[in-house]
Amino acid sequence: MNAEVLQHLAEKVGTPFWIGDAALLRQRIAAIKLLTEGVGLQARYAMKACPATRILKEMLEAGIWIDAVSGNEVLRAKRAGFPGSSILYTSDVFRDGAIAILREHGVMPNLGSPGMLRELQTAGYAGPISLRVNPGFGHGHVNACDTGGPSSKHGIWFSDIGDVAIRAERFGMSVTMLHAHIGSGPKFPELLDNMRRLAKEFAEFIPRFPKLTAVSLGGGIPYNYRNANDQPSLEPLRTVLEDARASFCSAAERDVRLEIEPGRYLVAPVMTLVARVTDVKRTETNERGKGETFVMVDAGFTDLVRPAMYGSFHRITIAGRHERDGMADVVVAGPLCETGDVFTRDGQELLVPRRLPTPRVGDLLLLHDAGAYGYAMSSNYNSMGRAPQLMLEEDGSVTMFSRRETVDDLLATEADEKIS
Ligand SMILES: Cc1ncc(COP(=O)(O)O)c(C=O)c1O
Repeated sequence: MNAEVLQHLAEKVGTPFWIGDAALLRQRIAAIKLLTEGVGLQARYAMKACPATRILKEMLEAGIWIDAVSGNEVLRAKRAGFPGSSILYTSDVFRDGAIAILREHGVMPNLGSPGMLRELQTAGYAGPISLRVNPGFGHGHVNACDTGGPSSKHGIWFSDIGDVAIRAERFGMSVTMLHAHIGSGPKFPELLDNMRRLAKEFAEFIPRFPKLTAVSLGGGIPYNYRNANDQPSLEPLRTVLEDARASFCSAAERDVRLEIEPGRYLVAPVMTLVARVTDVKRTETNERGKGETFVMVDAGFTDLVRPAMYGSFHRITIAGRHERDGMADVVVAGPLCETGDVFTRDGQELLVPRRLPTPRVGDLLLLHDAGAYGYAMSSNYNSMGRAPQLMLEEDGSVTMFSRRETVDDLLATEADEKIS
């Protein structure tokens, strides 16, 4: 999208705003459909990555199912049109009335903590369940995102699974699915190795689960944030999935469905956060450290928290500016009353200036590949309203699928109610 069009959209809806690309979303969905086409493979969308109804409806139309992590995500998926039977509820803790919601809508729970069994039983649940296993290994793009291994809070430790399954049967619940998500790391070969290892462990477990109908190997297909043109081919993953499914069917001596649940892969490149450059200022080198050029923009970690939270890298461009305009090493910072409200930083909380065409006040700065865990993780800190989400449709028109939040939205939950 060129600078003129972006400036026009900015005039219409203000800045910052999100702009999506419907054609790209459909390409990503098509790639996952191709990966899972044929009998016995099913993809779910890990909707935590970007739960907007606009996105969910595209998944629904493509026949992709849902992985939800809260009762409210289940309700969002329901409202987008998903039947309860196509939603899996994966979490380690029930809250916000999740059990009642699961029961009402016929959604299967995927338990990530043994004590959840008792909670389900107390609430009168007696249907099928899935168990989320911590297989003792995994990887993340940073340690905080490791989803398997001794330091991970996720899942039921693999050697406890047998006991949990016996207790489940006693409570009238049958384990019909085994699940693990072993992380969202940046290296594809590592994911493939871990999936092969996981498949081997699951194949050994399977004979102990006579009612098992499905196994999920989770999400975690990586996205190359540094070079959008260098994305791994999914072909080797297809082989891993086919081999895994064959080993599960043979271990179970019947048909077993194999599932994956990508989030990031489906939506990461689809959304871009567009912010206005409001100032360019500098600090000088002194005994405390090096001076920097700060490009101030009106988006902050309330819009896109990944850089501040994990030191994640997002490509940055300035609309309409090119190398020939002159380059500068700059730190890009936002409007929040937090020194860490900086988009150009690393995992050690250090500033990492980015070489960019020298921006000017009024320019639009684009934070790319922010569709996964972008808007979804945004907040109202400093009473910032969430920015509107727009979509460039395939016919060239632009639609808005969520509006800018106002102070009325922020105050809508305030109450003055006597509780006891
Ligand atoms: C259980 C589960 N499934 C799927 C995903 C999606 O991972 P990704 O977006 O890296 O594909 C996550 C992410 O944290 C997860 O915890």
